[in-house]
Amino acid sequence: CRIRHYKFNVVMKNTTRLCQTKPIVTINGQFPGPTVYAREGDNVLVKVVNRVKYNVTIHWHGIRQLRTGWADGPAYITQCPIRPGHQYIYNFTITGQRGTLLWHAHVLWLRATVHGAIVILPKFQVPYNPYPFPTPDKEVVVILGEWWKSDVEAVINEALKSGLAPNVSDAHTINGHPGPLTSCSSSQGFTLKVERGKTYMLRLINAALNEELFFKVAGHLLTVVEVDATYTKPFKTETVLIAPGQTTNVLLTADRRLGRYLVAASTFMDSPITVDNNTATAILHYSGSLSTSPTALTAPPPLNATPVATNFTTALRSLNSNKYPASVPLTVGHSLLFTIGLGVNPCSTCPNGSRVVADINNVSFVMPTTALLQAHYFNISGVFTDDFPGNPPIAFNYTGSLPTNFQTMNGTRLYRLAYNSRVQVVFQDTGFIAPENHPIHLHGFNFFAIGRGLGNFNSKTDPANFNLIDPVERNTVGVPSGGWTAIRFRADNPGVWFLHCHLEVHTTWGLKMAFVVDNGKSSNESLLPPPSDLPTC
Ligand code: C2O
Repeated sequence: CRIRHYKFNVVMKNTTRLCQTKPIVTINGQFPGPTVYAREGDNVLVKVVNRVKYNVTIHWHGIRQLRTGWADGPAYITQCPIRPGHQYIYNFTITGQRGTLLWHAHVLWLRATVHGAIVILPKFQVPYNPYPFPTPDKEVVVILGEWWKSDVEAVINEALKSGLAPNVSDAHTINGHPGPLTSCSSSQGFTLKVERGKTYMLRLINAALNEELFFKVAGHLLTVVEVDATYTKPFKTETVLIAPGQTTNVLLTADRRLGRYLVAASTFMDSPITVDNNTATAILHYSGSLSTSPTALTAPPPLNATPVATNFTTALRSLNSNKYPASVPLTVGHSLLFTIGLGVNPCSTCPNGSRVVADINNVSFVMPTTALLQAHYFNISGVFTDDFPGNPPIAFNYTGSLPTNFQTMNGTRLYRLAYNSRVQVVFQDTGFIAPENHPIHLHGFNFFAIGRGLGNFNSKTDPANFNLIDPVERNTVGVPSGGWTAIRFRADNPGVWFLHCHLEVHTTWGLKMAFVVDNGKSSNESLLPPPSDLPTC
């Protein structure tokens, strides 16, 4: 194992997309940002120096951060932000994980431009046989994102003032570019050069703020081998579904005629509430073909292609091999039901007199002004309470016409777990305002997605169909529109761990909560002390 040093300078950079130039927040002037490479077991040190006018934090999305919550990154949850002119060294060790993850800013909406890939190579072993599938000839990071012509912070601040939904982005991007089919972008874009007969592993990352995406390559099937840095049973698909915060490794064999093939990333939304104006494209180019040769096109699935999304999701299984077993908790100590709601609350300063809010179990989470992890570690009272409701406070019926959770309560309420407790959470979407999937992300853990369904979760009949053998293991899972998803995990990581919808606008509206996991009995089951350079609020 090695120590990997990185330096992240947070700097503004003038960037041109869609024929317009604007200053954006970047790491080292790059958009998308630099890839962090490490090997399983390595110690990673990233010195982040804030040279912009915004508060900054960086989150290492999906990294377990065993006992090192101080390096997790969500602002006011595990740390106070790095203020302008200040710096902080994120120091963590990669334990028991290998694959693709992402890092991103975790404060304001800076994630729009402050994000990049984390590539964790498997442990080095002799003979070197890194993957549980044939070793690809080449690996390529493919980051999907969104681009706004306006300043992204202005977009969300406008929305908060009005109480309404923010403007949707002006384009999707593939490795930073809308691509050749977008007017004003035709000369720029990502080209994946391949050699006929070779196999490529695409490390797909959805770094978009608010859009769940379909990903397709004309004429080529993709073999899914990993999601969220956990191996899956390989399966072939035409279309990959990937939500913000999720990662998916796919194998692509260049086995077609020489030529050029279109790569497309387009929006998925169960029930379209926005116009699908912004498919991003890139080119798969066989070496030996002319850059003028025509491009084989592909039609992205329609915006509301729910069957395509469902087929993809239900095909995902853990590899569950001898070497990579799926250790699903077979019994649970905490059985929780979390309703996910969008609602409307009164707002005296808003033009309509109301504002959109989002909640879990009717609690719209209020960000504290001191980091929760510090309050927990140093026993600072008055920052949070640990009375988050484990079940909806009022009877809930998705099929009812009158929503019972129209108005929400505000609070900074956490749910407390003893070390090593086994937890089941059923997320029930109540989506009556905006029916869409919610990609729910849990920090500090991987969990198993043991079941999903449409309509109301039935606690008497549905558990009989849970998959406790080889459910997919991940850190971000979609809760279907008007349906539910069940997860299980073991609370073996002491600290304070954020749980939220990875559609940034929903997080902003309050669709978030946190677990506080107490220390275990022995010292190696305890949260480590904070680093000396931890930012203060
Ligand atoms: Cu990728 Cu809390 O975030």
